[in-house]
Amino acid sequence: MKNINFWKKLKYPSRGGQAILALAPMAGITDSAFRQMCKKYGADVVYSEMASVSALFYKPQKTLEMLRFNAKERPYVVQLFGNKPEHFAVATKIITNMKSNPPATLRKRAFSRSDAGGPDGIDINFGCPAKKVFGHGSGCALMPNKKLSREIISAVCENTSLPVSLKIRAGLRDMDAIQFIKNIKDLPFSAVMVHGRTYEGGFSGPVDFAIAEKIKKIIPGKIILANGGITTLEDAQKIMQEFPLLDGLGIARGSWGKPFIFQQIKDILKKGKYTEYDFKKIKKVMLEHAKFIYQDKKEKGLLEIRKHLSWYVKGFPGASELRQKLVQVKSLKEIKNILDKSL
Ligand SMILES: Cc1cc2nc3c(=O)[nH]c(=O)nc-3n(C[C@H](O)[C@H](O)[C@H](O)COP(=O)(O)O)c2cc1C
Repeated sequence: MKNINFWKKLKYPSRGGQAILALAPMAGITDSAFRQMCKKYGADVVYSEMASVSALFYKPQKTLEMLRFNAKERPYVVQLFGNKPEHFAVATKIITNMKSNPPATLRKRAFSRSDAGGPDGIDINFGCPAKKVFGHGSGCALMPNKKLSREIISAVCENTSLPVSLKIRAGLRDMDAIQFIKNIKDLPFSAVMVHGRTYEGGFSGPVDFAIAEKIKKIIPGKIILANGGITTLEDAQKIMQEFPLLDGLGIARGSWGKPFIFQQIKDILKKGKYTEYDFKKIKKVMLEHAKFIYQDKKEKGLLEIRKHLSWYVKGFPGASELRQKLVQVKSLKEIKNILDKSL
């Protein structure tokens, strides 16, 4: 069955809309519950945690568990990493045929065919600098390898009817993102998220947003999202004003403890004003997040949400005392009691 290219249905500045706002992929963070939160609070697209194509090739079960999703997250993009085109080909077929979890809140007969369908897109990781990925020749280590990069993108595009996107960095050693894009620009991918720091730049320091706009000029028919260091509404506004050719933004750490940043950015770009989140509102958001994660992962989820809970309370009066309590929670009821007793 031919899938619809969701990127083409989104509105972005050159199509009379606002910036496309994407939750960027984050291993250990962008699980189903967090993606649901970001989607509910304004994200237009959400990415999975990166998934190994070799794991999908040899022993897919555990990885498929990790990639489980709920139809409320759509459009949902699964990100793949690896370095073997043949593993990418098989993994792509597996992901294309994967199904969503029925949302628990919907009764069976209320399902449409699309509710039960698979992910909406596949992304290829060309940006990860982490030792366990880069050290095996995957992620950002692929960028300088012109032949292999083409083979991997082709293997994915040829084995799916889903739209394919790429996540790249500004460069690595003497291969910059411009040369990388020129080498693959004829291939049928739909979108690129550009982390405007080089491999050497890691995760802090200056971000080159102009490089994303230069890429847009080379491949004007594809969607280009800029990523890196966008943590405030002002950052988002400034980038979209300074680089009007961009189609949108990818936000990673800026969403920690504030999944509502997506709606706030949308509102400020469209209406020039936005809703503030005081602690009362944030407590509601925290409980919602806890419920989503519990629905999906039960007690294990309550261990995983502890880091999110401490991000949510950051900067509020009594935060450190509250954080100490929250990082020990074992049940939803406990979270609710702690929050009810706090100011
Ligand atoms: C904890 C963590 C996990 C990440 N995992 C991934 C990943 O799985 N795939 C990927 O392409 N990038 C990953 N990234 C990179 C982010 O998607 C993003 O490019 C980077 O953090 C810069 O954006 P930011 O400044 O908005 O955080 C990760 C970043 C962090 C902090």
